[in-house]
Amino acid sequence: MKVVVIGGTGLIGSKLVAKLGEHGHEAVAAAPSTGVNTLTGEGLAEVLAGAQVVIDVSNSPSFEPAAVLKFFETSTRNLLAAEAPAGVGHHVALSVVGTERMPENGYFRAKIAQEQLIESSGIPFSLVHATQFFEFVRGIADESTDGNTVRIAPVLFQPIAGEEVAQAVGRVAVGQPLNGRVEVAGPEQSRMDEFFRDALAAWGDPRTVVTDPQARYYGSVPGERTLVPSEGATLGKIRYRDWLGQTAAK
Ligand SMILES: NC(=O)c1ccc[n+]([C@@H]2O[C@H](COP(=O)([O-])OP(=O)(O)OC[C@H]3O[C@@H](n4cnc5c(N)ncnc54)[C@H](OP(=O)(O)O)[C@@H]3O)[C@@H](O)[C@H]2O)c1
Repeated sequence: MKVVVIGGTGLIGSKLVAKLGEHGHEAVAAAPSTGVNTLTGEGLAEVLAGAQVVIDVSNSPSFEPAAVLKFFETSTRNLLAAEAPAGVGHHVALSVVGTERMPENGYFRAKIAQEQLIESSGIPFSLVHATQFFEFVRGIADESTDGNTVRIAPVLFQPIAGEEVAQAVGRVAVGQPLNGRVEVAGPEQSRMDEFFRDALAAWGDPRTVVTDPQARYYGSVPGERTLVPSEGATLGKIRYRDWLGQTAAK
């Protein structure tokens, strides 16, 4: 089966292309560096020819609210418009657990816009909502840093290894379209402030984590359960501490 992975050179995309290839699929990585740009439409018709499935794991180069909204709206419109004449039968996109619970967050608002375009496109689809990737948690600490302190809200948090996100997205992509969503998360749920206190200790990071119920997560204050999945989510097996040990050993 020919599967086009938009954002196939990125963190999740490159893992997906490798996994799909191992399972005998023709997985094609599509990104500006391979001559496919969903913002301009460059290379889209050519790469989609003969594709049964498209997986969109692209990301905006800027997380500034207006820029990220423009990225996901424009790229998703162009992609869906090119998929229809190519006869693509399944559009899969990766989103974030809790987008609908924090629409005031600029990044989440952009992902909601992306999801709505897909849901109303008429093309059979599946949405995979993942929690924060382990690879992304240092970025959260940096974004939450003020001098030598890291301000984190005591809300629930359940990050997942990127490898297990790619596995979940790949499985969904080769199955029947859900015309709905699934959620994926890591095996352990904890309070976000406690997670980061442990993580900084494990990194040997001298910054201090301050518990602050008003601390913002990329511009808005999350609620107790905003970032964690509902019951019935698919859970990974890899624990953060084990992943950290394996990553450091590589
Ligand atoms: N970070 C998290 O914790 C998290 C949690 C849940 C869901 N997600 C979602 O996961 C998805 C993938 O994230 P990631 O961290 O794997 O992304 P990433 O590593 O930043 O990769 C982004 C990819 O998008 C490509 N891209 C950028 N502009 C493009 C364009 N105009 N046309 C086509 N491709 C373009 C990039 O290509 P180049 O390499 O050529 O620039 C790259 O392949 C995102 O949609 C994000 O919303 C993230």
